Amino acid sequence: MTTTPAAPGHTPVSVASPARPAILGGAPAVTLDQTAANRWPICTPEDEAAVLRVLRAGEWGVSKETAALEDDYRKWLGVRFAVAHNNATGAILAGLHALGVSHGDEVIVPSATWWSSVLPVVHLGAVPVFAELEDHSLGLDPEDVERRITPRTKAIVVVHLFGLPSRMDELLALARRHNLAVLEDASHAHGAMYKGRPVGTLALDLGPKGASVFSMQGNKLCPTAEGGILLTNDPAIWENTLRWGHYERLLDLDSPNKYFAATGFGFKFRMSPLSAALARTQLARLTPRNTARNDNCVYLSRRLETLGCFNTFLSPPGIERVYFEYLIRYDESKTGLPIKDLSKALQAEGAMVGAPRYPLLHQQPFFTKGVWAKVGRVPPPHPVYDPAALPLTTRGNGSLLKLPSFPNAERALLDQYFDAFRKVLAHKDALPRSA
Ligand SMILES: Cc1ncc(COP(=O)(O)O)c(C=O)c1O
Repeated sequence: MTTTPAAPGHTPVSVASPARPAILGGAPAVTLDQTAANRWPICTPEDEAAVLRVLRAGEWGVSKETAALEDDYRKWLGVRFAVAHNNATGAILAGLHALGVSHGDEVIVPSATWWSSVLPVVHLGAVPVFAELEDHSLGLDPEDVERRITPRTKAIVVVHLFGLPSRMDELLALARRHNLAVLEDASHAHGAMYKGRPVGTLALDLGPKGASVFSMQGNKLCPTAEGGILLTNDPAIWENTLRWGHYERLLDLDSPNKYFAATGFGFKFRMSPLSAALARTQLARLTPRNTARNDNCVYLSRRLETLGCFNTFLSPPGIERVYFEYLIRYDESKTGLPIKDLSKALQAEGAMVGAPRYPLLHQQPFFTKGVWAKVGRVPPPHPVYDPAALPLTTRGNGSLLKLPSFPNAERALLDQYFDAFRKVLAHKDALPRSA
């Protein structure tokens, strides 16, 4: 084991075999084929048979397959109601409506997430209020959320980003204290556990103020050919969700909501039965597939942590995270090598690393140019979204590196990734710096 000299104020980085980095003319460290290792989604004969069965039955619109998928989710998670949607974006819109979000309300949301967690707020005429992410779970920081609560705050959208459960105890406690609703966006987190309970069930503790959503879009942990699902334990939320986008189910209700059976509330959000069939076979394989990803990502994470400059977001005690995406935090102050240059050198090694996929929402023209308020016909007062706001989220997001999540990788490929990191860091002072 050798140790590269550290620049003043930097921690030495341990290395065993400092071969020349590819970016300086050496041989790349990652040579194994990565296509099969990272292939996702996985299609088996069971998936094909399930889709064919529905196709041949001619159930292309309304089908018992959709109800069967809802049952599968209800049983898996132990919840009362599940409503399959054509995607999670629609399920989030329906869920926020069902939780009572409406014109002029404020909803506290993260900025580092896919836009679907946030833009439905605008379409209900409400105001997204961005709060900071906390460092360890990349979820909403409960202390910052509490600071942003005003008399107009109606709800919080909590996202378990990349499969890392947010700090739900603290977030639910403050929701109770301030009488707020919580929409738990578990789109990235099928199978993750928080203190012994599956994520996607935690907000439901709030009864009439809690709902959760999973996406089943084609690259999620339980993928299908587009789909989402809303879960709740509250009968009123369930009915309001049906009224919003599932007119065909209203006649069966034993409540005034059946009056709207001829129209619903103007949306048609039901899932294709072909997608439902595929989602069922995919859900049946969720656990072994999550285990394979977790084994691989945890294996590589433990090795990367030995380099002394990465936080790989391993599960803390009481939490079982999953890896929809595999991101790690790089501490540039430990090496003096800017993240951009680290990334370029790793790419030259053949490692598929890059920046996080999601641009921060509060910096997007949809918000900064005021378009949101017009699109959503949101009543004033209108906040001005400052791209320089949320310094912690911005700094935190800028220190993340995205790796493949290795759904089918062999250890040899993971070892090659580790070698790429180790080699590049061993030569950190010699690597080219971008302007
Ligand atoms: C965090 C999050 N929420 C919601 C969604 C919306 O899911 P869908 O694509 O099923 O509409 C996504 C989609 O990628 C997401 O990443």
